[in-house]
Amino acid sequence: MNIGTKLRLGTACMAALLSRKRRPVFVGWALTERCNLRCRYCRVWEKKPAAELDTGQVTGIIRDLHEQGVRLIKFSGGEPLLRKDLGDIVAFSRSLGIYTFISTNGTLFPSRIGEFKHLAGLGTSLDGPEDVHDAIRGTGTYRATLAAMEAARQERIPVKLTTVLSSANLDCWDHVLEVAERFEAQVTFQPATETVQFGTAPNPMTPEAGRYRQAIRTLLERKRTNRFISNSAAGLRHLYHWPDPRSIHCVGGKLLLRLDCRGHIQPCSRLPLREGAPDALTHGVRYCLDRLPVVGCQRCWCGSVVDLNLGAHFCLDAAIAMVRHG
Ligand SMILES: C[S@@+](CC[C@H](N)C(=O)[O-])C[C@H]1O[C@@H](n2cnc3c(N)ncnc32)[C@H](O)[C@@H]1O
Ligand code: SF4
Ligand code: SF4
Repeated sequence: MNIGTKLRLGTACMAALLSRKRRPVFVGWALTERCNLRCRYCRVWEKKPAAELDTGQVTGIIRDLHEQGVRLIKFSGGEPLLRKDLGDIVAFSRSLGIYTFISTNGTLFPSRIGEFKHLAGLGTSLDGPEDVHDAIRGTGTYRATLAAMEAARQERIPVKLTTVLSSANLDCWDHVLEVAERFEAQVTFQPATETVQFGTAPNPMTPEAGRYRQAIRTLLERKRTNRFISNSAAGLRHLYHWPDPRSIHCVGGKLLLRLDCRGHIQPCSRLPLREGAPDALTHGVRYCLDRLPVVGCQRCWCGSVVDLNLGAHFCLDAAIAMVRHG
Protein backbone atom coordinates (compact mmCIF):
# COMPACT_ATOMS: atom_id res chain seq x y z
CA MET A 1 0.00 0.00 0.00
CA ASN A 2 1.59 3.28 -1.02
CA ILE A 3 1.71 6.34 1.19
CA GLY A 4 -1.11 8.08 -0.76
CA THR A 5 -3.47 5.14 -0.15
CA LYS A 6 -2.53 5.05 3.53
CA LEU A 7 -3.26 8.77 3.86
CA ARG A 8 -6.61 8.40 2.12
CA LEU A 9 -7.58 5.47 4.36
CA GLY A 10 -6.37 7.30 7.47
CA THR A 11 -8.43 10.38 6.57
CA ALA A 12 -11.51 8.23 5.86
CA CYS A 13 -11.07 6.53 9.26
CA MET A 14 -10.82 9.86 11.08
CA ALA A 15 -13.97 11.08 9.30
CA ALA A 16 -15.80 7.84 10.19
CA LEU A 17 -14.78 8.06 13.85
CA LEU A 18 -15.85 11.70 14.11
CA SER A 19 -19.09 11.27 12.15
CA ARG A 20 -22.39 11.02 13.98
CA LYS A 21 -23.71 8.85 11.15
CA ARG A 22 -22.22 5.42 10.52
CA ARG A 23 -19.72 5.64 7.64
CA PRO A 24 -17.56 2.48 7.89
CA VAL A 25 -14.40 2.30 5.80
CA PHE A 26 -13.52 -1.42 5.88
CA VAL A 27 -15.65 -4.32 4.68
CA GLY A 28 -15.13 -8.07 4.92
CA TRP A 29 -17.52 -9.81 2.54
CA ALA A 30 -18.06 -13.58 2.63
CA LEU A 31 -19.28 -13.87 -0.97
CA THR A 32 -19.95 -17.59 -0.71
CA GLU A 33 -20.43 -20.32 1.88
CA ARG A 34 -19.08 -22.96 -0.49
CA CYS A 35 -15.59 -24.33 0.06
CA ASN A 36 -13.37 -26.92 -1.61
CA LEU A 37 -11.41 -27.72 1.59
CA ARG A 38 -12.29 -29.34 4.92
CA CYS A 39 -10.12 -27.51 7.45
CA ARG A 40 -10.31 -28.96 10.94
CA TYR A 41 -11.05 -25.68 12.74
CA CYS A 42 -13.73 -24.53 10.27
CA ARG A 43 -17.11 -26.09 9.50
CA VAL A 44 -18.29 -23.99 6.58
CA TRP A 45 -18.33 -27.19 4.53
CA GLU A 46 -20.88 -28.83 6.84
CA LYS A 47 -23.48 -26.15 6.11
CA LYS A 48 -25.91 -26.27 3.24
CA PRO A 49 -24.54 -23.23 1.37
CA ALA A 50 -26.95 -20.30 1.27
CA ALA A 51 -28.01 -18.87 -2.10
CA GLU A 52 -25.60 -16.25 -3.43
CA LEU A 53 -26.08 -12.85 -4.99
CA ASP A 54 -25.40 -12.67 -8.73
CA THR A 55 -22.68 -10.49 -10.26
CA GLY A 56 -24.94 -7.50 -10.92
CA GLN A 57 -26.34 -7.61 -7.39
CA VAL A 58 -22.82 -7.74 -5.90
CA THR A 59 -21.53 -4.85 -8.02
CA GLY A 60 -24.65 -2.81 -7.23
CA ILE A 61 -23.99 -3.22 -3.50
CA ILE A 62 -20.28 -2.39 -3.99
CA ARG A 63 -21.29 0.91 -5.63
CA ASP A 64 -23.69 1.60 -2.76
CA LEU A 65 -21.00 0.77 -0.15
CA HIS A 66 -18.57 3.11 -1.91
CA GLU A 67 -21.14 5.92 -1.89
CA GLN A 68 -21.51 5.41 1.87
CA GLY A 69 -17.76 5.79 2.45
CA VAL A 70 -16.30 2.26 2.14
CA ARG A 71 -12.70 2.37 0.87
CA LEU A 72 -11.36 -1.16 1.47
CA ILE A 73 -13.05 -4.51 0.77
CA LYS A 74 -11.73 -7.98 1.46
CA PHE A 75 -13.66 -10.65 -0.45
CA SER A 76 -13.66 -13.91 1.44
CA GLY A 77 -15.83 -16.95 2.07
CA GLY A 78 -15.93 -20.00 2.26
CA GLU A 79 -13.63 -20.01 -0.71
CA PRO A 80 -14.25 -16.91 -2.83
CA LEU A 81 -12.49 -18.35 -5.90
CA LEU A 82 -15.31 -20.86 -6.26
CA ARG A 83 -17.19 -17.90 -7.69
CA LYS A 84 -16.47 -17.79 -11.41
CA ASP A 85 -17.14 -14.04 -11.45
CA LEU A 86 -14.65 -13.10 -8.71
CA GLY A 87 -12.29 -11.48 -11.25
CA ASP A 88 -15.13 -9.27 -12.55
CA ILE A 89 -16.17 -8.35 -9.00
CA VAL A 90 -12.60 -7.41 -8.05
CA ALA A 91 -12.16 -5.40 -11.26
CA PHE A 92 -15.38 -3.48 -10.58
CA SER A 93 -14.36 -2.75 -7.01
CA ARG A 94 -10.94 -1.54 -8.16
CA SER A 95 -12.55 0.64 -10.86
CA LEU A 96 -14.21 2.64 -8.06
CA GLY A 97 -10.83 3.11 -6.39
CA ILE A 98 -11.62 0.68 -3.58
CA TYR A 99 -8.56 -0.97 -2.09
CA THR A 100 -9.47 -4.61 -2.86
CA PHE A 101 -8.15 -7.80 -1.27
CA ILE A 102 -9.16 -11.42 -1.55
CA SER A 103 -8.80 -13.91 1.27
CA THR A 104 -8.39 -17.39 -0.22
CA ASN A 105 -7.03 -20.84 0.56
CA GLY A 106 -4.91 -20.37 -2.57
CA THR A 107 -5.76 -23.65 -4.30
CA LEU A 108 -7.43 -22.04 -7.32
CA PHE A 109 -5.44 -18.81 -7.44
CA PRO A 110 -2.49 -19.63 -9.78
CA SER A 111 -4.72 -20.94 -12.59
CA ARG A 112 -6.77 -17.71 -12.47
CA ILE A 113 -3.99 -15.21 -11.85
CA GLY A 114 -4.84 -13.42 -15.12
CA GLU A 115 -8.07 -12.15 -13.54
CA PHE A 116 -6.33 -10.64 -10.52
CA LYS A 117 -3.47 -8.60 -11.88
CA HIS A 118 -4.80 -5.41 -10.28
CA LEU A 119 -5.56 -6.91 -6.90
CA ALA A 120 -4.25 -4.75 -4.08
CA GLY A 121 -3.38 -7.74 -1.93
CA LEU A 122 -3.68 -11.50 -1.61
CA GLY A 123 -4.59 -12.86 1.81
CA THR A 124 -3.95 -16.54 2.34
CA SER A 125 -3.50 -19.01 5.19
CA LEU A 126 -0.33 -20.75 6.33
CA ASP A 127 -0.43 -22.87 9.47
CA GLY A 128 3.08 -24.37 9.55
CA PRO A 129 5.40 -26.67 7.61
CA GLU A 130 3.96 -29.03 5.00
CA ASP A 131 3.07 -31.97 7.30
CA VAL A 132 1.42 -29.72 9.92
CA HIS A 133 -0.39 -27.48 7.43
CA ASP A 134 -1.67 -30.45 5.40
CA ALA A 135 -2.84 -32.30 8.54
CA ILE A 136 -5.01 -29.27 9.40
CA ARG A 137 -6.12 -28.14 5.95
CA GLY A 138 -5.82 -31.22 3.70
CA THR A 139 -3.21 -33.01 1.60
CA GLY A 140 -1.53 -30.81 -0.98
CA THR A 141 -2.75 -27.54 0.52
CA TYR A 142 0.70 -26.41 1.73
CA ARG A 143 2.11 -26.61 -1.78
CA ALA A 144 -1.01 -24.89 -3.12
CA THR A 145 -0.52 -22.00 -0.68
CA LEU A 146 3.11 -21.58 -1.68
CA ALA A 147 2.16 -21.78 -5.38
CA ALA A 148 -0.41 -19.02 -4.82
CA MET A 149 2.21 -16.90 -3.05
CA GLU A 150 4.64 -17.47 -5.91
CA ALA A 151 2.00 -16.54 -8.51
CA ALA A 152 1.28 -13.34 -6.57
CA ARG A 153 4.99 -12.54 -6.33
CA GLN A 154 5.36 -12.86 -10.12
CA GLU A 155 2.63 -10.24 -10.51
CA ARG A 156 3.98 -8.05 -7.69
CA ILE A 157 0.79 -8.52 -5.67
CA PRO A 158 1.50 -8.05 -1.94
CA VAL A 159 0.77 -11.15 0.15
CA LYS A 160 -0.62 -11.23 3.67
CA LEU A 161 -0.62 -14.47 5.62
CA THR A 162 -2.87 -15.53 8.47
CA THR A 163 -1.63 -18.20 10.84
CA VAL A 164 -4.16 -19.74 13.20
CA LEU A 165 -2.45 -20.79 16.42
CA SER A 166 -3.97 -24.15 17.29
CA SER A 167 -3.17 -27.31 19.24
CA ALA A 168 -1.23 -28.58 16.20
CA ASN A 169 1.23 -25.78 15.48
CA LEU A 170 2.27 -23.82 18.57
CA ASP A 171 5.95 -24.43 17.83
CA CYS A 172 5.69 -23.75 14.08
CA TRP A 173 5.89 -19.97 13.96
CA ASP A 174 9.61 -20.17 13.01
CA HIS A 175 8.76 -21.91 9.76
CA VAL A 176 5.90 -19.49 9.06
CA LEU A 177 8.21 -16.51 9.61
CA GLU A 178 10.84 -18.04 7.34
CA VAL A 179 8.28 -18.41 4.51
CA ALA A 180 7.02 -14.89 5.21
CA GLU A 181 10.55 -13.52 4.87
CA ARG A 182 11.17 -15.50 1.68
CA PHE A 183 8.08 -13.96 0.07
CA GLU A 184 8.33 -10.56 1.79
CA ALA A 185 4.86 -11.23 3.21
CA GLN A 186 3.33 -9.94 6.42
CA VAL A 187 1.88 -12.53 8.78
CA THR A 188 -0.93 -12.07 11.29
CA PHE A 189 -1.20 -14.58 14.10
CA GLN A 190 -4.48 -15.34 15.87
CA PRO A 191 -5.79 -18.06 18.17
CA ALA A 192 -8.12 -20.79 16.95
CA THR A 193 -11.55 -19.85 18.22
CA GLU A 194 -13.15 -21.96 20.94
CA THR A 195 -15.97 -23.03 18.64
CA VAL A 196 -15.36 -23.96 15.01
CA GLN A 197 -15.64 -21.17 12.44
CA PHE A 198 -19.14 -21.12 10.88
CA GLY A 199 -20.48 -23.48 13.54
CA THR A 200 -21.26 -23.86 17.21
CA ALA A 201 -19.46 -27.15 17.92
CA PRO A 202 -16.36 -27.03 20.16
CA ASN A 203 -13.21 -26.57 18.11
CA PRO A 204 -11.07 -29.75 18.08
CA MET A 205 -8.01 -27.56 17.38
CA THR A 206 -8.29 -25.20 20.36
CA PRO A 207 -4.81 -24.91 21.92
CA GLU A 208 -4.02 -25.39 25.59
CA ALA A 209 -3.95 -21.87 27.08
CA GLY A 210 -0.56 -22.15 28.83
CA ARG A 211 1.28 -23.37 25.72
CA TYR A 212 -0.55 -20.82 23.59
CA ARG A 213 0.56 -17.99 25.89
CA GLN A 214 4.14 -19.20 25.75
CA ALA A 215 3.93 -19.02 21.93
CA ILE A 216 2.61 -15.43 22.14
CA ARG A 217 5.41 -14.51 24.56
CA THR A 218 7.93 -15.85 22.05
CA LEU A 219 6.30 -13.95 19.20
CA LEU A 220 6.45 -10.77 21.29
CA GLU A 221 10.18 -11.30 21.72
CA ARG A 222 10.68 -12.10 18.05
CA LYS A 223 8.74 -9.00 17.05
CA ARG A 224 11.57 -6.83 18.36
CA THR A 225 13.76 -7.99 15.47
CA ASN A 226 11.36 -9.51 12.92
CA ARG A 227 9.56 -7.11 10.60
CA PHE A 228 7.24 -9.74 9.10
CA ILE A 229 4.99 -10.10 12.15
CA SER A 230 2.14 -7.76 11.34
CA ASN A 231 0.35 -7.93 14.72
CA SER A 232 1.35 -4.94 16.83
CA ALA A 233 3.01 -5.65 20.18
CA ALA A 234 -0.11 -4.22 21.85
CA GLY A 235 -2.25 -6.53 19.71
CA LEU A 236 -0.17 -9.54 20.74
CA ARG A 237 -0.47 -8.50 24.38
CA HIS A 238 -4.27 -8.41 23.94
CA LEU A 239 -4.26 -11.84 22.23
CA TYR A 240 -2.10 -13.19 25.07
CA HIS A 241 -5.18 -13.19 27.32
CA TRP A 242 -7.17 -15.56 25.10
CA PRO A 243 -9.37 -17.42 26.08
CA ASP A 244 -10.12 -15.27 29.16
CA PRO A 245 -12.61 -12.44 28.55
CA ARG A 246 -10.80 -9.20 27.74
CA SER A 247 -12.31 -5.76 27.13
CA ILE A 248 -11.48 -3.76 24.03
CA HIS A 249 -13.05 -0.68 22.42
CA CYS A 250 -15.04 -1.97 19.47
CA VAL A 251 -15.26 -0.32 16.04
CA GLY A 252 -17.64 -2.95 14.63
CA GLY A 253 -20.24 -1.02 12.63
CA LYS A 254 -18.29 2.23 13.06
CA LEU A 255 -15.16 1.48 10.98
CA LEU A 256 -15.79 -2.13 10.07
CA LEU A 257 -18.62 -4.05 8.41
CA ARG A 258 -19.21 -7.61 7.49
CA LEU A 259 -21.47 -8.79 4.67
CA ASP A 260 -22.65 -12.34 4.06
CA CYS A 261 -23.34 -14.03 0.72
CA ARG A 262 -26.94 -12.79 0.68
CA GLY A 263 -25.99 -9.19 1.38
CA HIS A 264 -26.91 -9.04 5.07
CA ILE A 265 -24.87 -6.39 6.85
CA GLN A 266 -23.44 -7.03 10.30
CA PRO A 267 -21.03 -4.98 12.44
CA CYS A 268 -18.75 -7.97 13.00
CA SER A 269 -18.33 -11.51 11.69
CA ARG A 270 -18.24 -12.95 15.21
CA LEU A 271 -21.89 -12.11 15.81
CA PRO A 272 -24.69 -14.48 14.80
CA LEU A 273 -26.97 -13.01 12.14
CA ARG A 274 -29.94 -11.33 13.83
CA GLU A 275 -33.40 -12.65 13.05
CA GLY A 276 -34.91 -10.36 10.39
CA ALA A 277 -31.67 -8.38 9.84
CA PRO A 278 -32.09 -6.17 6.73
CA ASP A 279 -30.01 -6.83 3.64
CA ALA A 280 -28.28 -4.35 1.38
CA LEU A 281 -29.91 -5.67 -1.79
CA THR A 282 -33.50 -5.14 -0.65
CA HIS A 283 -33.07 -2.12 1.60
CA GLY A 284 -29.87 -0.40 0.47
CA VAL A 285 -26.70 0.09 2.48
CA ARG A 286 -27.74 3.32 4.24
CA TYR A 287 -30.93 1.75 5.59
CA CYS A 288 -28.92 -1.21 6.96
CA LEU A 289 -26.25 1.06 8.49
CA ASP A 290 -28.85 3.14 10.29
CA ARG A 291 -30.24 -0.01 11.91
CA LEU A 292 -27.03 -1.77 12.93
CA PRO A 293 -26.87 -2.74 16.58
CA VAL A 294 -24.16 -1.24 18.77
CA VAL A 295 -21.73 -4.05 19.49
CA GLY A 296 -18.68 -4.90 21.51
CA CYS A 297 -17.63 -8.01 23.34
CA GLN A 298 -14.84 -9.43 25.43
CA ARG A 299 -13.87 -12.07 22.86
CA CYS A 300 -12.10 -10.11 20.15
CA TRP A 301 -9.45 -12.55 18.91
CA CYS A 302 -9.06 -11.86 15.17
CA GLY A 303 -5.51 -10.46 14.83
CA SER A 304 -6.24 -7.67 12.33
CA VAL A 305 -9.52 -6.61 14.00
CA VAL A 306 -7.77 -6.37 17.38
CA ASP A 307 -5.24 -3.93 15.88
CA LEU A 308 -7.98 -1.91 14.20
CA ASN A 309 -9.89 -1.66 17.49
CA LEU A 310 -6.76 -0.67 19.43
CA GLY A 311 -5.44 1.71 16.74
CA ALA A 312 -8.76 3.53 16.49
CA HIS A 313 -8.69 4.13 20.24
CA PHE A 314 -5.39 5.94 20.55
CA CYS A 315 -3.09 2.93 20.88
CA LEU A 316 -0.09 4.37 19.04
CA ASP A 317 1.64 1.02 18.70
CA ALA A 318 -1.35 -0.57 16.93
CA ALA A 319 -1.93 2.53 14.79
CA ILE A 320 1.71 2.49 13.66
CA ALA A 321 1.51 -1.25 12.89
CA MET A 322 -1.58 -0.64 10.75
CA VAL A 323 0.07 2.18 8.83
CA ARG A 324 3.31 0.25 8.42
CA HIS A 325 1.79 -3.07 7.38
CA GLY A 326 -1.35 -1.78 5.67
C1 LIG B 1 -12.79 -18.44 6.94
S1 LIG B 1 -11.29 -18.34 6.01
C2 LIG B 1 -11.88 -17.80 4.42
C3 LIG B 1 -10.78 -17.63 3.41
C4 LIG B 1 -10.15 -18.89 2.86
N1 LIG B 1 -11.07 -19.93 2.64
C5 LIG B 1 -8.99 -19.33 3.75
O1 LIG B 1 -9.08 -20.38 4.37
O2 LIG B 1 -7.98 -18.60 3.80
C6 LIG B 1 -10.50 -16.84 6.65
C7 LIG B 1 -9.45 -17.11 7.71
O3 LIG B 1 -10.08 -17.62 8.87
C8 LIG B 1 -9.20 -18.54 9.47
N2 LIG B 1 -9.96 -19.43 10.35
C9 LIG B 1 -10.76 -20.45 10.00
N3 LIG B 1 -11.27 -21.06 11.08
C10 LIG B 1 -10.77 -20.42 12.17
C11 LIG B 1 -10.92 -20.59 13.58
N4 LIG B 1 -11.69 -21.52 14.09
N5 LIG B 1 -10.26 -19.72 14.40
C12 LIG B 1 -9.48 -18.74 13.90
N6 LIG B 1 -9.31 -18.53 12.57
C13 LIG B 1 -9.94 -19.37 11.71
C14 LIG B 1 -8.61 -19.28 8.27
O4 LIG B 1 -7.42 -19.98 8.59
C15 LIG B 1 -8.37 -18.13 7.31
O5 LIG B 1 -7.09 -17.59 7.48
S1 SF4 C 1 -10.73 -22.09 6.62
FE1 SF4 C 1 -11.10 -21.40 4.53
S2 SF4 C 1 -10.41 -23.11 3.26
FE2 SF4 C 1 -10.64 -23.91 5.29
S3 SF4 C 1 -12.71 -24.82 5.34
FE3 SF4 C 1 -12.83 -22.70 6.15
S4 SF4 C 1 -13.35 -21.43 4.42
FE4 SF4 C 1 -12.61 -23.41 3.61
S1 SF4 D 1 -15.16 -9.48 18.10
FE1 SF4 D 1 -16.35 -8.22 19.58
S2 SF4 D 1 -15.03 -6.45 20.09
FE2 SF4 D 1 -14.17 -7.44 18.23
S3 SF4 D 1 -15.06 -6.28 16.51
FE3 SF4 D 1 -16.41 -8.05 16.92
S4 SF4 D 1 -18.00 -7.33 18.37
FE4 SF4 D 1 -16.30 -5.83 18.36
